[in-house]
Amino acid sequence: MNDGKKLFGVAALFDTPDEILKAAKTVNNAGYKNYDVNTPYPIHGIDKAMKLKSSKLGYVTLFFGFFGASFILFFMWWTLAVNYPLVIGGKPYFPLPAFVPITFEFTVLNAVLSTFIAMIAVVFNLPFNSHPLHDSNYMRNVTSDKYGVVIESEDPQFDENKVNELLRSLGGKNIERIFYPEQKEFKVFQPRFVVFLIIIAIITSVSTYVTLNKLMYLPPFSFMEHQNKGIAQYESTFFYDKREMREPVKGTIARGFIPYAFTGVTDTNEFYSNPLLPTQKVLKLGQEKFLTYCSPCHGNYGEGKSRLRGFFPPGPTLHSARVIGFSDGKIYNIITNGQNGIMPSYAYQTTRDERWAIINYIRVLQRAQNPKPSDFSAISEINKESGNASN
Ligand code: HEC
Repeated sequence: MNDGKKLFGVAALFDTPDEILKAAKTVNNAGYKNYDVNTPYPIHGIDKAMKLKSSKLGYVTLFFGFFGASFILFFMWWTLAVNYPLVIGGKPYFPLPAFVPITFEFTVLNAVLSTFIAMIAVVFNLPFNSHPLHDSNYMRNVTSDKYGVVIESEDPQFDENKVNELLRSLGGKNIERIFYPEQKEFKVFQPRFVVFLIIIAIITSVSTYVTLNKLMYLPPFSFMEHQNKGIAQYESTFFYDKREMREPVKGTIARGFIPYAFTGVTDTNEFYSNPLLPTQKVLKLGQEKFLTYCSPCHGNYGEGKSRLRGFFPPGPTLHSARVIGFSDGKIYNIITNGQNGIMPSYAYQTTRDERWAIINYIRVLQRAQNPKPSDFSAISEINKESGNASN
């Protein structure tokens, strides 16, 4: 009779809300746990009659709401204040009031989506997408004008005869057995479905194309694309020198940047002191920049072996007592301003920190040429520690 199908439960219909309230109360009192009540509209007091606990879904909403708020605040703080700090309109890097709308929106978005997904995934038990009650006579009735209760076979104390008896004693009508649907495989590549997909693809592409390229450009819409404006690298019809890109006003200095006081001043006795310590990172940078910009004329070790002999005046050795005696600030001045019109300025090729790093590196080269006795003991210490004391 049941064709080997699995029984989902036994359902009964009632005519009035009072009957269903009484039925729910009785079924619950009889100790059934896996049962449900279906009505065409919400019935007052039904959750009390069924002794339903309040839904846990609210916790999901709460958690993901908080998660969304803290995530987006962290995200905005990280991108705008830490990773890529930009001054916008002179505001602080992390202007909280300006972030309130985004935080609000993201909180709501997160809460809503997570609630929705949790509801259909957890409560509806995805991928279980065809409920046995679907397409049943019972469902047809309870979505129209009847009130129904269904006791599921999963219930620990389910006994078909007893359930039948109970429902009948309550005055239930149309008592019917409901079975799980046979698992029907959904063929993705059946011709009808492929044609359907193709039609959908065509409709969406055409409507998107027409909307974005035609409809939105009809008057009265006017887009920034068509405004009069300066485009970088284009000829200007407005400025006398025909250049769209304007240079900053003379004397403009970048934020947080204090200009070098002795730019263009070669004969000074006042010098800056080196702000960088010779750490490994600084020395690595100094080495890289020295090899790139200084070694062509001063040699790889600053020993004065120019590779550009015949093209440029060879740079003198940097190991002379003279250069060793220079203060860091003086060498900085030489790199920035050049020397005697013979050594060119390297102010454009190197940043300030790179210059100071180069100087630290030059000091290392000098020290390597003129070691102190303590350096040797330091080296043998290092060798001993790394276990290769060969001499
Ligand atoms: C195009 C070749 C060239 C390059 C590149 C070059 N220099 Fe020089 N440098 C010279 C010459 C030539 C002199 C000698 C200038 C003079 O006669 O006063 C010099 C002089 C110097 C002096 C002074 C030496 C002294 O005894 O007066 C220092 C210090 C120095 N350079 C450092 C550097 C550093 C650091 C760099 C890399 C940023 C660099 N130079 C790149 C050619 C160069």
